[in-house]
Amino acid sequence: MTGKIKGTGSYRPVQVWDNDNLSHMMDTSDEWIRGRTGIRQRHIAGQEETVAYMAARAAEKALTDAGMWPEQIDLILVSTMSAERIMPCTACEVQKLIGAVNATCFDLNGACTGFLLALNTAQAYLGQQIYHRALVIGAEALSHLTNWQDRSTCVLFGDGAGAVILENEESAVYIQATHSMGNGGESLTCASRNRPEFTETRADLSSTYMQMDGKEVFKFAVSKVPEVILEVLEKAGKTKEEIRYYMLHQANQRIVSSVAKHMKEPLEKFPMNIENLGNTSSASIPLLLDEWNKKGELKAGDWVVLSGFGGGLTYGASLLQW
Ligand code: UT7
Repeated sequence: MTGKIKGTGSYRPVQVWDNDNLSHMMDTSDEWIRGRTGIRQRHIAGQEETVAYMAARAAEKALTDAGMWPEQIDLILVSTMSAERIMPCTACEVQKLIGAVNATCFDLNGACTGFLLALNTAQAYLGQQIYHRALVIGAEALSHLTNWQDRSTCVLFGDGAGAVILENEESAVYIQATHSMGNGGESLTCASRNRPEFTETRADLSSTYMQMDGKEVFKFAVSKVPEVILEVLEKAGKTKEEIRYYMLHQANQRIVSSVAKHMKEPLEKFPMNIENLGNTSSASIPLLLDEWNKKGELKAGDWVVLSGFGGGLTYGASLLQW
């Protein structure tokens, strides 16, 4: 018994900043950002658009898509590293906002691999038949964790949320592989502000924003993502030819192209929406999944590989049948 995706939903904040907006704020250009990353614009959450709000709006759309009521959900998992509140967890806030009164709720932080890890966790509960219907959400307000003085990172990120509904089905297929490399963790960091040196003094806050050794993370991604995708295909006994889409975390168009080239697979099998959304960390895979679902690009029976990678360092891939 495994969960099958029955519905998807997403939320994009109203405010959009394109590269020209950023080039008025700092020494950067549309040419540099597009050339190095493929990003043209990103959505930036307003004050009312908290992580819980965005997650709840995405969840409501996923419920509608699945034709389910909130009361039918018995597990809510939210993957986030940018929630405004530590407690209550965002999943409990979503429960309150959508009225999913029968659900058990908790959050999970696996940085950009977080949505995949949340999906794996939900599948483990569903596989054991502890729960039968799960709502899994990736939601981020990365603009709160962005140092707007640091052009090497701030042009990359965006805000948003994506959600999927899983329901147990006898014939569903879900196979996953994940890895963590804690030794490489210092290449992508963001310190908590919840420490005395930050609250009691006017200490330098720069470490409490996202800091990245872009080149190191790039090298890690282009070597490990193809590896873990091939690992999951081998586990499943599937060939590359059988895969309809590879949906990768949207960190950089050049990373996606490099993975496609490395795997000798056509780029058309790697959907991308980073151009419009930037890097939304754990929201990027469900945002992409929802966009392709709503465009009618996913057909029943299609084999789809999801792959996430990022802070930790962490990475993984999952194979599912649409
Ligand atoms: O989601 C988590 C996972 N994250 C990732 O996978 C991100 C992986 N890394 C990357 O995507 C790329 O490394 C970046 C897009 C972040 C950077 O691209 P890069 O080709 O590695 O550029 P770089 O950092 O080596 O910078 C090249 C030059 C530097 O100038 P000099 O030293 O060559 O004169 C930077 O100072 O570009 C400069 N630069 C910029 N120029 C204009 C850095 N940021 C900017 C900017 N605008 N925003």
